[in-house]
Amino acid sequence: MKIFLDTADISTIKQWAHTGIIDGVTTNPTHLSKAGGDPKKIIKEICELLLHGSVSVEVTELDPDIVYAQAKAISVLADNITVKIPCHSRYFEVIKRLVDEDISLNITLIFTLTQGLAMCKLGVDYISPFMGRLDDIGSSGIKLVQDMANMRDTYSYNTELLAASIRSVDQLHEVILAGADIATVPVAVLEKAVSHPLTDKGIEKFLADWQALGIRKFP
Ligand code: E4P
Repeated sequence: MKIFLDTADISTIKQWAHTGIIDGVTTNPTHLSKAGGDPKKIIKEICELLLHGSVSVEVTELDPDIVYAQAKAISVLADNITVKIPCHSRYFEVIKRLVDEDISLNITLIFTLTQGLAMCKLGVDYISPFMGRLDDIGSSGIKLVQDMANMRDTYSYNTELLAASIRSVDQLHEVILAGADIATVPVAVLEKAVSHPLTDKGIEKFLADWQALGIRKFP
């Protein structure tokens, strides 16, 4: 299973890129707006930090023809770019055309199983169900991820299931168990998920016990 960072913050990405557990980054207009500065420069820098990872960059236009042209322009910013396009029927034709042209696509803002199925049928690389935003309106985000994993397996689609809009460690653990191919995670959630007070306490105790032995050099 892959872990993506859900951010456009360069210093955070730099910090995590070298750990070996990060397989990509998902940006969106909100993340880039928060990062400030020149989005093109930031995207290129992120792509260089994760040369072997996938970096999702979202279109910012509305008109399908302009979205098509923008998607093509975004895709050539770096070799490891995946273009994010919202799952709206007005873009289906454009999505099909871009898939036919071998552009890597991550279809975002997915809230129904049929939206996911439609995108698998078009052969996109990634589908992104938004868990947290579904939970926000009283629906079940994890149920959608589970149903999508089931659909992907039943019909043997190659599209990867990228669980997005994850807001808590519990949600992350649920998507790991649901069979998602990728979880894109905010850094605060990832930091919490990879640590535990008993790990810290255990390190301190082992160190204290070892030091009681009085051995200077080991081995
Ligand atoms: C990632 O691809 C999404 O843009 C992101 O996970 C959305 O998260 P949010 O619903 O917390 O804004």
